[in-house]
Amino acid sequence: MLNPGKDHRALAGLSFGVFVLLSLVVAVLPATTMQESNSPLPGSSPLLEAAQRGLKVYVREGCVACHTQQVRNIEMDNVWGSRPSIPADYYYAKARMDVWRQSPSILGSERTGPDLTSIGERNPSETWHYMHLYNPRIVVPESIMPSYTWLFEVKEEAEEEDVVLNLPPSLKPAHGVVVAGNDARDLVAYLLSLKQVDLPTVERDFISSRKKRKEETQTTPLAGNSTLPDGASLFQANCAVCHQPDGRGLPGAFPPLAGSPIVTDENADTIIRIILEGYDARPEYATMQPFGDLLTDEEIAAIVNFERSHWGNNAPPVTPDDVKKLRVPANVP
Ligand code: HEC
Ligand code: HEC
Repeated sequence: MLNPGKDHRALAGLSFGVFVLLSLVVAVLPATTMQESNSPLPGSSPLLEAAQRGLKVYVREGCVACHTQQVRNIEMDNVWGSRPSIPADYYYAKARMDVWRQSPSILGSERTGPDLTSIGERNPSETWHYMHLYNPRIVVPESIMPSYTWLFEVKEEAEEEDVVLNLPPSLKPAHGVVVAGNDARDLVAYLLSLKQVDLPTVERDFISSRKKRKEETQTTPLAGNSTLPDGASLFQANCAVCHQPDGRGLPGAFPPLAGSPIVTDENADTIIRIILEGYDARPEYATMQPFGDLLTDEEIAAIVNFERSHWGNNAPPVTPDDVKKLRVPANVP
């Protein structure tokens, strides 16, 4: 019988077992899940090499102590981005630091300085960023951000490809010029790469084109004896940019419709409401815009029926009347 109280081998073995088990549960499994539940947004691109090195400088210099890179879904955060951040935004931040280290999350938790989610858009001036890093007081007199002078070097004479700082007289070195070091260049490349990627939206000018398309769909012969427009092409035109043509969605941004309990629910009220009014229920996904003003009852019914009968989904069809009764009546006194 094992007796860890007396047998040192059993004791060491048991502790090691618990250690391995805990590592799996606390570190390995969550990391793997995160890795799989995330994919790049359409329109996003991987960090270029310089920006990737800059990310390491950002981590090394501890910028995360004062800066966040996350737009929360609350009003005061609206200034930092055009939408709340979603997991897919961080897809490319997963580049490894080296063989042993995953790059840490740089979402941050302190906002002593502004959020940097879209600093590359808000302030795309390289010169500003160099000056600001060398001494923030040059460009923002009241700034309390530390100077990062060690990212720069003083040279007797600038070489051709050097980035020379045009400093005010009081900060100029006695001899020579201040030029940006490699780390400063990489860091600025990283800062300028920070931009929020726009989510796909369904074109607004689609409203005007709708009438035309409606006439077209009405002249094409409809499948079977259905009187509804073609749900498949309406889905393609309105929903597939986000939910993808195969209905599988995009992990970390848009949920799958294939196998979705909402789509396949016997009662179609929720899916119809989501299409009419939009949807923003979970932080792990972006926001869905409302389609109530863009689509007619017939079109929505056609899309719902398409989604409920494809990709392995199998739920009873709805009628335009089902949609009509869920529309919030306009101008209720
Ligand atoms: C002690 C806290 C602190 C640290 C550490 C810090 N900052 Fe800042 N940062 C601030 C404050 C406060 C501001 C606002 C005033 C200003 O613009 O200088 C700011 C502003 C900025 C801005 C301008 C943001 C905007 O919206 O205009 C950038 C870019 C920036 N910091 C980058 C960095 C980088 C890169 C690092 C690491 C090398 C860093 N900061 C480290 C406090 C800090
Ligand atoms: C701009 C991107 C976008 C477009 C376009 C879009 N959706 Fe969505 N949809 C979303 C997001 C994001 C969610 C999840 C929101 C949340 O849970 O916070 C969602 C959720 C849903 C859900 C709930 C699924 C579930 O299981 O949670 C349904 C059903 C749905 N959408 C149907 C549609 C239909 C039908 C269309 C076309 C008329 C459409 N969507 C167009 C982004 C979009």
